[in-house]
Amino acid sequence: MKFIQTKTYAELSHKAADIIAAQIILKPNCVIGLATGSSPVGTYKELIAYNKKGDIDFSDVTTVNLDEYVGLDGSNDQSYRYFMNDNLFNHINIDKNCTHVPNGCAADLAAEGEAYDALIKDLGGIDLQLLGIGLDGHIGFNEPDDVFVKATHEVVLDESTIKANARFFANEDEVPKTAITMGMLSIMQAKKILLVANGKAKKDIVQKAFFGPITPQVPASLLQLHPDVTVIFSEE
Ligand code: GLP
Repeated sequence: MKFIQTKTYAELSHKAADIIAAQIILKPNCVIGLATGSSPVGTYKELIAYNKKGDIDFSDVTTVNLDEYVGLDGSNDQSYRYFMNDNLFNHINIDKNCTHVPNGCAADLAAEGEAYDALIKDLGGIDLQLLGIGLDGHIGFNEPDDVFVKATHEVVLDESTIKANARFFANEDEVPKTAITMGMLSIMQAKKILLVANGKAKKDIVQKAFFGPITPQVPASLLQLHPDVTVIFSEE
């Protein structure tokens, strides 16, 4: 594991964007796993700037996102599809048909999960997976549990996750109680993993996840077993 501590969030975003840009330059038709939340927003801003300058080309890139709230479709401004369009896809030269987010409105979420895993397999797996980390150690929406869940699946969100994510909604009651998330297998099978965490509030969970015991009660701790993980942390 490579652990990079930066002084500022701007520096974190710059380094993370450089790693993603390097991946795209080395393999223009790569598959990138993307994340939502506030942590990667600065990284996306940098990637947009690189694309506008002509430094990186997204025309052959495919993306697969980690998760989506159940019941929110892409026109809902709280959905993760909307977030991705708004924070990245609308501003770069990517083919939107090559951007994938699990469908939280699928009538059969178990079938949607199977189809999502099959899609990732058909794409040849993920070359680089970008992750944030929740305060309870979740990655994607893989919440603390008695087991690591392998497949893309529906999940009941933890009370702490609902509280943490309420800042993006009008009030806590509006936060969906369930979500669909990529499982731990597709994440662990990604060739490279890049996790960004910023803010003092994340310090303890980053410490637990990467220097504590490997346990499904801290889902991110499984990343300790991945052969190519880079963590970028800023206390700002
Ligand atoms: C959400 C997302 C996660 C993300 C987490 C942390 O719960 N499902 O993928 O890592 O938020 O978000 P933030 O970066 O805003 O702290």
